[in-house]
Amino acid sequence: MSITLKHLSIQISLASVLGAALAAASSGAEDQRSGGGWYTAEQADRGHLLYNTYCAECHRPELTGAMGPALIGKPFLDKWSQKTLGDLYSFEHNTMPANNPGSVPEDKLVDITAYILSKNGFPSGTQALSPDVGMDRKLKP
Ligand code: HEC
Repeated sequence: MSITLKHLSIQISLASVLGAALAAASSGAEDQRSGGGWYTAEQADRGHLLYNTYCAECHRPELTGAMGPALIGKPFLDKWSQKTLGDLYSFEHNTMPANNPGSVPEDKLVDITAYILSKNGFPSGTQALSPDVGMDRKLKP
């Protein structure tokens, strides 16, 4: 009887270990958030050049805004911190550049987004920014 009980409790603890492992695996975005990285430094570097090509004409090379609003600083962050990374990316993808929406290829727009995040104090990390991962993260540096 005691052997059966022991066996049972081993099974239960195995199940809970497995359950924890599964939960950890499915919360990859959560780990990324607490790990603190949003993009890689290489992406932000590439994004800097691409931003100058595609976006700076209206948002200024310093991101301080001209024909388009500033993409840096408190008003920008106040507005977007209520929204997700996916919201920002979709906005850019669907409406920018304002004079030719959707014309920037996705991989380039991802790098540009990394650059904009970097200029707003979001830290870089080992995980590359991707339209497929962690897009539900709220935009808080
Ligand atoms: C021809 C001028 C022009 C170009 C080029 C341009 N934008 Fe914009 N952008 C605007 C205007 C105008 C707005 C405001 C539109 C709105 O809010 O609906 C805007 C708004 C934005 C916003 C939202 C800012 C906020 O405060 O909500 C983002 C983000 C943005 N642009 C990103 C980009 C990116 C990234 C590029 C380059 C791929 C780009 N824009 C190129 C004119 C431009």
